[in-house]
Amino acid sequence: MNIILLGAPGAGKGTQAARIEETYNLKHISTGDIFRYHMRQQTEIGLLARSYIKKGQLVPDEVTVKIVELALKDADMKDFMLDGFPRNIYQAEALDKIVDIDKVIDISVDFSVLMDRICGRRNCLECGYTTHVSQLSDGVCPKCGGEMQQRMDDKEDTVKSRLEVYSEQTAPLIEYYKSKGKLFTVDGMGAPDKVFEEVRTVLG
Ligand code: AP5
Ligand code: MG
Repeated sequence: MNIILLGAPGAGKGTQAARIEETYNLKHISTGDIFRYHMRQQTEIGLLARSYIKKGQLVPDEVTVKIVELALKDADMKDFMLDGFPRNIYQAEALDKIVDIDKVIDISVDFSVLMDRICGRRNCLECGYTTHVSQLSDGVCPKCGGEMQQRMDDKEDTVKSRLEVYSEQTAPLIEYYKSKGKLFTVDGMGAPDKVFEEVRTVLG
């Protein structure tokens, strides 16, 4: 099964991906995570990606499509879950030429909750655990004791740009996949486990 997770920044794509990966054994391909890896390693792709990500803009399509092609090959082109890709019609059409997608899950949330979810998000540098700052008593990961950090693009001004980019470029994908009969919408406003129950109903 090959699936796509759609949704605005902060909708909970990464949160649900972790649960889906565990239950359905689908390989998690997150373009955001791949870019962040390259930024940490300070590769050429990382340096280029940083200049766009810090402004809340999309990394150019040619670069993004190429890294997804490589990640899909690594995943043997099957049983994967794309998170954060495609993000515009050009990328969706490029993907259509490479692989077949079975289901697209759109995690739907009210924009009003996103700023707090994103600006409050903290990630563990060691194990990747993600939570809201209100759940932490200090800057230490409750799972592994690592250091919790805020993402470079999780500051208010950048988040505003990310949300604009989503509305202009990514939201049209909802119609794109609906017209292909592949779109399934889940309500992303409940608690993560409640959202996952809906995801399970879609994935079976
Ligand atoms: P990317 O890393 O993909 O970020 P994003 O799409 O903006 O989404 P986020 O990761 O911020 O949110 P999420 O939906 O994963 O939510 P999460 O589960 O963490 O992309 C980053 C950047 O890379 C882009 O801006 C762009 O520059 C570049 N890029 C990436 N892909 C690209 C592409 N294809 N083309 C070009 N450029 C690309 O949850 C968020 C918070 O909410 C967490 O704190 C979590 O604990 C909490 N939370 C989650 N679910 C719930 C819930 N149900 N209730 C309450 N809180 C919840
Ligand atoms: Mg994410």
